[in-house]
Amino acid sequence: MGKGMSDMAITEKSTKLGTTKLHQLGSMQLESGRWLHGVEIAYETYGTLSPSKDNIVWVCHALTGDQYAAGDHPPGWWSNLIGPGRYVDTNRFFVVCTNVLGGCSGTTGPSSTQPETGKPYGLRFPTITIRDMVKAQQMMVRQWGLDKLYAIIGGSVGGMQVLEWAVMYPELMEKAIPMATSSRLSAMAIAYNDVGRQSILADPDLMDGDYYPEPGPLKGFSIARMIGMITYRTQELYDARFGRELKEDHEITQFDSTFQVESYLRYQGEKLVDRFDANSYLYLLKAMDSHDLGRHRGGVEAALEKIQSNMLFVGVTDDLLYPVNHIREVVDTLRSLGKKVDLYELDSPFGHDAFLVEFDEIGPEVKAFLNS
Ligand code: COA
Repeated sequence: MGKGMSDMAITEKSTKLGTTKLHQLGSMQLESGRWLHGVEIAYETYGTLSPSKDNIVWVCHALTGDQYAAGDHPPGWWSNLIGPGRYVDTNRFFVVCTNVLGGCSGTTGPSSTQPETGKPYGLRFPTITIRDMVKAQQMMVRQWGLDKLYAIIGGSVGGMQVLEWAVMYPELMEKAIPMATSSRLSAMAIAYNDVGRQSILADPDLMDGDYYPEPGPLKGFSIARMIGMITYRTQELYDARFGRELKEDHEITQFDSTFQVESYLRYQGEKLVDRFDANSYLYLLKAMDSHDLGRHRGGVEAALEKIQSNMLFVGVTDDLLYPVNHIREVVDTLRSLGKKVDLYELDSPFGHDAFLVEFDEIGPEVKAFLNS
């Protein structure tokens, strides 16, 4: 066990989004067998750790998320869910969120310096999996001298991490809340991910991943985000928001963005590439694709058998990436194994993105589960 959290000097680092706290994790062996050395984990905390260290809510972020889950600097992506008096009440809970291994908001990833060469890893960064992300977080928990988390919560790729946490370290948490996620990534999601990946790989500015300090394959990456944004939402929402509306003063032209929906997607593409690293995106997409709770464990049921925590699943009826029938399968298997599990199924036009938007629906369920 490490020195314990209170004895550790907190170092900080600047990221594109602001300053962040940094934990020196050291060396870790990956699922592939390869080693990463000098690993750093960027993290944020909200609220106060109780003297008995029994009030920790560990948050896992999604594909292009970061450690800034709450607060205003920068605005947290779950700040409507987490904060003083909010559904995850930081007057009671000590909330921790780390940037995932392979990410680009301060944690070691492809844009970090490779100790052996003194240059950014680029595409020489080793392949990582969701299990590697979780292992890094668990090492940090242990190095902080903690032996129990009250709850773990996350959506999408964050939800995959929650499930892996519950299977890999079942004794480490009391409650787990996987949202908009299931035991494996669907074929449809793998398919869309590959279209996004190919778009990045086809951009000559990728330069085999060695584009730093230039921003890299902005065009290919923004197209990948546009594809992603289509899958995160539903036809119902796109119809209701944009329909066939044209941009102001626009005639239909051949190559211009003339429809509002085009304008929206292009805007979202440009917004992401401004804050995220394309190499990281490639690595995290692959980690997402490879997620399969049953891999090397004798199947999904054998993996689920290990779980000890109380579980609250949140599923969204029209989620294109993590179909709700996949989530129901996991929940039914857990029930048949005698585990304590609830499923809250939400019907939302936001589809997969509901976990980032529908706080008034999801929040009360999360609060009740945490308080139960
Ligand atoms: N043309 C150009 N821009 C437009 C537009 C149009 N027709 N319509 C809206 N926008 C812009 C708005 O000006 C606003 O800009 P800002 O973010 O700079 O303020 C932005 O689009 C609003 O985005 P929208 O998606 O409508 O907001 P929302 O409240 O519905 O959802 C998020 C917020 C953060 C969830 C969403 O924007 C997002 O990023 N979704 C993807 C998250 C994700 O990665 N999910 C998958 C996890 S695996």
